[in-house]
Amino acid sequence: MGGDSGEYEISLKTAANIFEVVDRTKYVPYLIHLKGNSWSYTDSENVVYQIDKNDFSLQISDKKVAFDTVFIAIHGNPGENGHLQGYFDMLKIPYTGCDLFTSALTFNKFFCNMAVKQFGFPVSSSLHFYHDEKMDYEKIEEMCGYPCFVKPCNSGSSVGVTKVRDRQELVNALVLAFEFDDQVMVEKFIPGREMTCGVVKLDGQVKAMAVTEILSKKEYYDYEAKYTPGFLELVTPAEIDFLLESQILSYSEKIFTRLGCRGVVRIDYIVTAEGVPYFLEINTIPGQTAMSIIPRQVRYRGWDIKDFYSSLIEESFY
Ligand SMILES: Nc1ncnc2c1ncn2[C@@H]1O[C@H](COP(=O)(O)OP(=O)(O)O)[C@@H](O)[C@H]1O
Ligand SMILES: [Mg+2]
Repeated sequence: MGGDSGEYEISLKTAANIFEVVDRTKYVPYLIHLKGNSWSYTDSENVVYQIDKNDFSLQISDKKVAFDTVFIAIHGNPGENGHLQGYFDMLKIPYTGCDLFTSALTFNKFFCNMAVKQFGFPVSSSLHFYHDEKMDYEKIEEMCGYPCFVKPCNSGSSVGVTKVRDRQELVNALVLAFEFDDQVMVEKFIPGREMTCGVVKLDGQVKAMAVTEILSKKEYYDYEAKYTPGFLELVTPAEIDFLLESQILSYSEKIFTRLGCRGVVRIDYIVTAEGVPYFLEINTIPGQTAMSIIPRQVRYRGWDIKDFYSSLIEESFY
């Protein structure tokens, strides 16, 4: 838990929530906190032990604690972008969720969109820029029009994301987005309802969990809407017709499989008035605080939350 992104606090809550439900008859869990170079474990007496990064172990008095698997509960860097996945791959320590390649690919919104579009799913039009590249405003306006979205390619929780309505706002939004990443994208606005679908691989089988509608009291699902109580209403299952629901569930299972995902992920869409679900993004370490969408979908499905996490832990060994 922890990490080095704007979602640090959310990660602590996600981890605390998972830690609480881990089946103690099967596992002995340790909460390991990562922040920059400090990777540590704090025991019940508040004694802090540093992780030995040579083999991701702990030395607690005369006992060495090594781990059978790691439940990665870090949103953003370094848990969602492939960095930790590469580290654990090198140490041959299993971990939950997507592998290095899938994590790195899906963490970059632009390159992930390109892949998902190529697989045949509806995705909005967008343009990609590196920091040192000349911005072609005419091309942006021609391809995306206004309003459009400016986003850092590698980010989350709407940090650095702006909806812009004219050239001046576009210029300012690009400056802001480049503060968070050296790659940004400009994406055509898709008007519609925002839906999200959890997908999980359990016992080797890919299952779309449910479609949840995200009703934001803000103009869009920004950081404030995400984390301020009352700014957001989540409806599970979404009040949509059966055919559209089946389509979103089926798209989600296919996208999960095509991208080579593992564990539990959440795929976000904007559904247009014509009923077309546009892929928006995939979160490979979705929020799992008590209030988050994934635990709600687990409850909606009538699954036992303890068994759900035991299955995810078991999946990490395959
Ligand atoms: N192309 C788009 N059309 C309409 N709404 C969008 C578009 N892109 C982003 N949004 C809105 O902005 C929010 C944040 O964008 P998103 O790409 O999901 O970034 P983040 O990773 O920060 O959540 C979305 O949840 C949605 O409400
Ligand atoms: Mg999002």
